[in-house]
Amino acid sequence: MFKINDNYLKLPGSYLFSMIGKKVNEFSKANPDKKIIRLGIGDVTQPLAPAIIDSLHKAVDEMAHAETFHGYAPDLGYEFLRSAIVKQDYQARGAHVELDEIFISDGAKGDSGNIQEIFSENNRIAVCDPVYPVYVDSNVMAGRTGTYDPKTETWSDVIYMPCTEENNFVPQLPEETPDLIYLCFPNNPTGSAVTKEQLQVWVDYANKVGAVIIYDAAYEAYISEENIPHTIYECEGARTCAIELRSFSKKAGFTGTRLGFTVVPKDLKCGDVMLNTLWARRHGTKYNGAPYIVQRAGEAVYTPEGDAQLKKQIAYYMNNAKVIMNGLKDAGYSVSGGVNAPYIWLKTPDSMTSWEFFDYLLEKANVVGTPGSGFGPSGEGYFRLTAFGSYENTLEAIERIKNM
Ligand SMILES: Cc1ncc(COP(=O)(O)O)c(C=O)c1O
Repeated sequence: MFKINDNYLKLPGSYLFSMIGKKVNEFSKANPDKKIIRLGIGDVTQPLAPAIIDSLHKAVDEMAHAETFHGYAPDLGYEFLRSAIVKQDYQARGAHVELDEIFISDGAKGDSGNIQEIFSENNRIAVCDPVYPVYVDSNVMAGRTGTYDPKTETWSDVIYMPCTEENNFVPQLPEETPDLIYLCFPNNPTGSAVTKEQLQVWVDYANKVGAVIIYDAAYEAYISEENIPHTIYECEGARTCAIELRSFSKKAGFTGTRLGFTVVPKDLKCGDVMLNTLWARRHGTKYNGAPYIVQRAGEAVYTPEGDAQLKKQIAYYMNNAKVIMNGLKDAGYSVSGGVNAPYIWLKTPDSMTSWEFFDYLLEKANVVGTPGSGFGPSGEGYFRLTAFGSYENTLEAIERIKNM
């Protein structure tokens, strides 16, 4: 008789977005005349930039002729894309990353969930609290997290690093020593960012204790302030302790087109074993590559036209972020994020729980956001709004919130 991987049974239900969907459906059924504005889910709304569309069209036409047709992509991804990444994402920022340290993928969700496979089951993970749920859930599936306590909503073998108002939503070094440290900056859900000096502390710590940092830089393109690192490899010593995850989803609107990459430096070793070799083996065995046409679309991101168009797109979203931040501040809310990230993290008023505020906002302003408690216990009492809506809807939503 077959047996299942019963680690899956330990996973608490993915309550957050299904609960939001259920509550919004019930509300709109009961109030069919109300226009609901959704500033909850972190999906983009602007169309792909013209340079990207041109590149996609060209690549599609190439696929129509035997002479220019492309089948399976090379294991690591096409060199035209990897070399654009090396030059513009890394060399241009003074960071050392080589061509064969980049692994093109279909996005950061898969990579952030899969990367744990190359590590022993006995590794102890540390995560920020609140956190993007994939890091924890993928380790639950692998049997690395111990037992779940529904009361505290925590796992016995996970080291939680609270990110709260007191520490400006940037975690302190943990008291217990982890083996794998998941960091995401600019952060989802809090919208916080770290300075280069702050990130250097983590790199030094990881090198000292022999831990690996899994650095999710999916929102790097939203950084607007100086001295906020765009890549962890801007820090000295990161090549011996850090893996970096990148995504084209929020940088270039590829949430439905799918493209990302992971960097595993060859200097990152366990004894004599390079993690680069393990990830190459895993990638080559279990993955057959992002489509040629999508990799060509990704290449367009690095052209001068693509770059200029995307800067405008990001400015559009970040203007929404400003509208939300300023509007909420005027209305007396305590808000953070929204400067180097498309997420605004607000403290719920009058000690409401995150879900109480969700209901209140839906009822009074017909606006949907995301309860902070859905990202971890330290998210309780907070609420996430995203800048990914249209300008008009964002403006209207904020006016409604001001008038609640
Ligand atoms: C922190 C973080 N990492 C990764 C992802 C997933 O990115 P992708 O669309 O490239 O899979 C998201 C998506 O919301 C995210 O917030």
